[in-house]
Amino acid sequence: MSLPKSMVQPLLIWYAENARKLPWRQDITPYRVWISEIMLQQTRVEAVKPYFERFMRELPDVKSLAEVPEERLLKLWEGLGYYSRARNLQKAARQVCAEYGGELPTDPAQLQRLCGIGAYTAGAIASIAFGRRAPAVDGNVMRVWARLTADGRDILQPAVQKDAREDVAAIIPADQAGDFTQAMIELGATVCVPAGEAKCGVCPLQAFCKALSEGMVDELPVRSKAKARKRIDMTVLLIHDGKHVLLHKRPDTGLLAGMYEFYQTEGVMDAAMAAQHAGEMGFEVQEVSEQIAAKHIFTHLEWHMTGYAVRVASVDTAPAHLCAATKGEMGSTYPIPGAHRVYRERAEQLLN
Ligand code: ADE
Repeated sequence: MSLPKSMVQPLLIWYAENARKLPWRQDITPYRVWISEIMLQQTRVEAVKPYFERFMRELPDVKSLAEVPEERLLKLWEGLGYYSRARNLQKAARQVCAEYGGELPTDPAQLQRLCGIGAYTAGAIASIAFGRRAPAVDGNVMRVWARLTADGRDILQPAVQKDAREDVAAIIPADQAGDFTQAMIELGATVCVPAGEAKCGVCPLQAFCKALSEGMVDELPVRSKAKARKRIDMTVLLIHDGKHVLLHKRPDTGLLAGMYEFYQTEGVMDAAMAAQHAGEMGFEVQEVSEQIAAKHIFTHLEWHMTGYAVRVASVDTAPAHLCAATKGEMGSTYPIPGAHRVYRERAEQLLN
């Protein structure tokens, strides 16, 4: 099933009249499009806005991104999640400096060879920043496509995504490729939204929509069920001496790579066990107080956390894998993931 070329003009007219004013739609440059598209993966527009503006102020070009210390980069990303995106951005920036003299390539195939850039992001950069007729099909656009064509196959299947990319590619207007890409994304984000909420009454593509004419809008797209997430119980210890709290830098690969977390260990402890555990780590424990429960959901697993504030006589005896941070350093220096947000807030109250 293909898409009709006649839908392009109504879509572009709708976009011209209804596009949200977003920071990355102003002063369009390849670098700004790239950074915004990476930030927007799995992340809401409203959440991205302040991060994008701050990132652009501090790292305004490919060279500054290639050279920034990783810890500072992760600090700029702190709270956005999916931190491998930030680390991949830097790897790609270094590739761009080494291979392309610091300018992003215009060709989607070359873009796709850069770290962290897949088919969608390559298409988005190539079309929005360079006006190339490259399809950019993300989750929003898959939904629009599945409804327009009433395609009932699983949109997570690569073969289905390939069909969608080919259908979209076939109708991209040569003179407005960027507007077309953004219009498709915008329609999916604001009108052709997930089941039960779709605003078909204001959709510029009503006349072209098979799902609408067949009464299938709420049934499409079809998406296979994700596997159940693994549950992990954690005990978090805010080991502090009133001035410093101890942080652990996570390994360079895997979940939350390179981020700093409060000391934690798998399993559930009560306060007495927490005191004993800290004692066995070599601390002189003065007080274990309060129990702070928190839960964080990652893509494939969930942390169910129980936390204690553990006041110790001194953090100087800490094992080498832990580092002592002041309240100021927690704010300015160490990137701490959103998964530990409640513990960070508590630690800030404990320190002076
Ligand atoms: N989501 C992904 N890309 C986007 C863009 N350019 N504008 C708004 N939302 C988006």
